[in-house]
Formats: sequence, structure tokens, C-alpha cells
Amino acid sequence: MQYNRCGNSGIQLPALSLGLWHNFGDVDDFNVATRMVLTAFEKGICHFDLANNYGPPPGSAETNFGKILRTQLASHRDEMFISSKAGHDMWPGVYGTGSSRKNLMASIDQSLRRTGLDYFDVFYSHRYDPSTPIEETMQALIDIVRSGKALYAGISKYPAEQQQRAYDILKEAKVPCLLSQYRCSMFDLKAKTNNFQCAADNGSGIICFSPLAGGLLSGKYVSGIPDGSRVAKGSPFLTPSHITAERVEATRKLDEIAKNRNQTLAQMALAWVLADSRVTSVIIGTSSEQQLLDNLRALDSAAFTTDELKAIESIISEPSLSF
Ligand SMILES: NC(=O)c1ccc[n+]([C@@H]2O[C@H](COP(=O)([O-])OP(=O)(O)OC[C@H]3O[C@@H](n4cnc5c(N)ncnc54)[C@H](OP(=O)(O)O)[C@@H]3O)[C@@H](O)[C@H]2O)c1
Repeated sequence: MQYNRCGNSGIQLPALSLGLWHNFGDVDDFNVATRMVLTAFEKGICHFDLANNYGPPPGSAETNFGKILRTQLASHRDEMFISSKAGHDMWPGVYGTGSSRKNLMASIDQSLRRTGLDYFDVFYSHRYDPSTPIEETMQALIDIVRSGKALYAGISKYPAEQQQRAYDILKEAKVPCLLSQYRCSMFDLKAKTNNFQCAADNGSGIICFSPLAGGLLSGKYVSGIPDGSRVAKGSPFLTPSHITAERVEATRKLDEIAKNRNQTLAQMALAWVLADSRVTSVIIGTSSEQQLLDNLRALDSAAFTTDELKAIESIISEPSLSF
């Protein structure tokens, strides 16, 4: 495994991290989930990305991860870097969502109880919440770090203006932002344009999520919707409406480039996100141990020639691909 320095901090993170958003809830197969976590750790993926609402049902990914930790990895806690987040809908009611101090403080305690952890390595504000003053959200993160419930603070999906303000508040309190989490893939270039340089200039590491656009960039949807896929399972986050003719055609063309590099499209898509030197780590999601093993091989041919980058750029710069 390749490890990259996280911004200006003393932390190094694996180039690939494992996210537990899908495939680790109570609706999923616990044995498969266990194998994915154990194989990831064995292969050097020591960073696991959680959030209070991951499941379904919300909370169950943390509970299941806690079970795996307790039964299989208890003696390895210090070798692992574990995150959680709060800010999206967790339960109905005014205190079950948003980025208020009330929600963040209650949420980290609940997440610690579910996972059985004493502390998280990094705790994120999962989203900018326009109905809460950013000072309130950042003060909650600062107090969480000072209380020892998390070692570092992070922000996720903050728009550019609020991103800089968040860094400033955290820096002033001497609790600098360790990690900024943004969606980034060959089908979503927005954060590259709007947020990466700001994070880099402020000494924050950058960690990217949904690098395969939920699976579209594996090329699995070129001939329809395969059984067992994210779309087939009815995820609200990747639906048949996302599988447009333009995106399917683009994955076909990108797959040709990947083949010439002796890679699968998924491997090339992951390597492409990592090729931006500002990126610390890419969070993969997998629904099987085999996908995890396949994705790890992205690191075997991570470099691109200028011609390859140009050819990819000419395909992905088409605005209709973006979502
Ligand atoms: N901060 C935030 O707001 C936020 C938001 C979203 C995600 N995240 C984090 O980012 C992580 C990853 O997001 P994501 O799951 O959307 O990532 P992704 O890499 O875009 O999609 C992962 C899905 O692609 C398919 N896949 C993966 N590898 C494959 C392979 N080799 N061959 C074929 N199909 C493959 C699987 O879906 P199938 O079910 O089709 O097999 C897998 O579940 C999450 O778990 C979470 O930790 C954070």
C-alpha cells in the first residue's frame, strides 16, 4: 500500500480507504461485510470511513463495524484510522439532522456507543448547514477534539466560501482541519475546480468519495442494469435516470483507454482521481471482497502519460456527463 501525507499534518493515509456507506448495513450480508473489512486491513487499507447515518437502517453500519472490530480486530485499534460524521438526516425531528452543536455533540456520543470506540480519529461536519451559523458548527468540532472524542476535525462537501471560513475558524482555535472530503470522479470534476486548491493552500488533506460515480465508472451498466448492482437494489443515490446514453458511451470510450493500459475501467478511474497530487486518499465502496481486491490493483499502474490524460480529458470534459 502507498501512504500519502495528509496536508500539513503528521498523519499519513493509505492511497485507498474503505467507505461503509453502502453494503455494511443490517440489510446486507454481515459475512461479506466482515470479509471486506478484514481483507482491506490485511492489504494496508487502515482507514475506514463511517457516518452516523450509514446503513440502512441509519446507524447499522457503525454497529456492524463495531462488531467486526470487537471480534476480529480488537488488538489493532492503534493501527487503524477511523472516521465518522454527523449532519445528514439520522432520525425524524429537529435534533436528528443538521450541523447544530446539539446534533453534533449527541451524534458523536451515539457513534462512539455504536462502534464501541473510545474515540474517532477524525470527526467531520458531514455537510454545510445554511440554517446553522458556521461558527457554531466549527466550535462544536473544536470542542469535540478538545474533549478527546476525536483526534482531528474534518469538513465534508463545504462550498468554497464556507470552506475557507471553516479553515479560518479552526486554525484560529489551533484545531486545524485535517481532512476535507469531496465527491470526485471522472464524472464529477466540480470539487477539483472549486475546492481542492483552497484545501491545499490551507494545509488540509483532501479525501475523495464516490470515485466510480457509484459504480457507473466500472462500466457495469453498458448493457443494462445487472442483478445485484447498486441501481438494481434501488439505491436512491444511483438510479436508472443516471444511466444516460452519453455516460454509457463515455464509459465505453474510457474503457478502451483502460484496456490499452492493461487495467479495468474501475482501476483506471481510481488511479485518475489519485493522479491529482493534492489528493491524499480515495474512498472506495465495494459490495464484495473481489471488487476490493480488483480495486487495489489500481495502484499497480497509477501513472498516466500526457497523451492518456489528454485523451481522458477530451471525453470527460463533456458537461452532460457531470452529476
Ligand atoms: N461525505 C459524504 O457526503 C459522502 C458521500 C458519499 C460517499 N462517501 C464515502 O465514500 C465512500 C465511497 O462512495 P461510493 O460507494 O459512492 O463509491 P464508488 O466507488 O463511486 O461506488 C462504489 C460502488 O461501485 C461498485 N464497484 C466498486 N468497485 C467495483 C468493481 N471493481 N467492479 C464493479 N463494480 C464496482 C459497487 O457497487 P455495486 O453495488 O453495483 O456492486 C460499489 O458499492 C462511501 O462508502 C462513504 O464512505 C461520503
